[in-house]
Amino acid sequence: MKLDIIAGARPNFMKIAPIIAALEKVSDKIQYRLIHTGQHYDKKMSGSFFEQLGIPEPDVNLEVGSGTQAEQTARIMERYEALLLDYHPERSETESKDLKFEKEAPFSFRRGVGGEAFIGKSDWVLVVGDVTSTMACSIAAKKLGVGVIHVEGGIRSNDITMPEEINRMVTDSITDIFYTTSEVANENLRKLGHDASKIRYVGNTMIDTLLKNMSRFQKPEAWDVFSLKEKSYFVMTLHRPANVDEETQLKNLIDEIVNGAKGMPIIFPVHPRTAKMLKGIGIEADNLHMIEPLGYLEFNYLVQHSFAVITDSGGITEETTVMKVPCMTLRDNTERPETITIGTNELVGTNPDNIAPFMKKLHAGDWKAGEIPYLWDGKTSERIVEDLLGL
Ligand code: UD1
Repeated sequence: MKLDIIAGARPNFMKIAPIIAALEKVSDKIQYRLIHTGQHYDKKMSGSFFEQLGIPEPDVNLEVGSGTQAEQTARIMERYEALLLDYHPERSETESKDLKFEKEAPFSFRRGVGGEAFIGKSDWVLVVGDVTSTMACSIAAKKLGVGVIHVEGGIRSNDITMPEEINRMVTDSITDIFYTTSEVANENLRKLGHDASKIRYVGNTMIDTLLKNMSRFQKPEAWDVFSLKEKSYFVMTLHRPANVDEETQLKNLIDEIVNGAKGMPIIFPVHPRTAKMLKGIGIEADNLHMIEPLGYLEFNYLVQHSFAVITDSGGITEETTVMKVPCMTLRDNTERPETITIGTNELVGTNPDNIAPFMKKLHAGDWKAGEIPYLWDGKTSERIVEDLLGL
């Protein structure tokens, strides 16, 4: 079987790492090619995750870079399609080592150091999560008759204003095999009319990575710089357009959080999108510490030892659930309801006025303890690869 694995943005990297590790064990049966779309390209947003999680150098980097939603989608589709179309069954293995196109490609590909991967069309494409790269590669592949496998398929926020929700809906509508993280996802897919045989509840590959790396978490510099103490600081991340694209909203949220923290330090690794906004606002508070985005091992060290996390990310709510750290989600909805019904997460909403009561509950020691959802056990990628062998 020839399989393409797609990774494009930060939250993809921890999801593909354990799948690749499991695929390495069956390399005589499944030949895979790792394709980085280049949606995230900074060392801090991409490179460091490859290094820390031992992900091999991508076979191809489509280098699409920043852009609007449509620009990124279009560039990824155009480049991935060209990669798939470079299909010459008559070409010998040796000739195939260089990527050649029948027509001059309007961009360049940088191959990884491996350089041994097959070229042309794959049998299947495996996409993860809900980022632009997930959707764009699924469409390009499906139109060329390549089967689509969606890891983390079926989840829905039912908030169509989020680009991620559109990415999920479009991807799932053309997916052939769903590997799901929750019973809610299974139910969503069944309601949409997908055949039960296509839906495979395997657990959460992000949690495979978390459990595998927990003993390797690294204390970041920030620990000493801000004299942090076990369970007496907050970790905060914000990057959703609803929270960060409008100055007043961002400022009011941060003000409420700073007040609610009661002097406890707040460590805020700032996403590039948020950094651009913050420049114009000039927020300052003694207990608010804005730092660069952290590597995986450093970020999760901070989370594991924190008093609580405040975030608008989806993936972080899964990690805090497994690490049993209280988590306040600054969104009006979530595609991961099990982090609330089972885990340590609470949906606070995007209205800054909602923050104070949750802070009160936290400080009073009234937060729920939480359980870990079924099959979030560190073995999901093995289950996926076992299943792939049967396709
Ligand atoms: C994307 C994903 C989102 C995910 C988030 C995690 C989509 C639709 N959204 O949103 O689901 O939770 O990543 O980070 O795919 N930038 C850099 N360096 C980089 C990458 C981006 O400076 O390495 C800048 C871009 O130029 C842009 C901004 O950060 O101005 C946002 O990046 P973008 O990829 O558009 O989307 P995210 O907001 O990161």
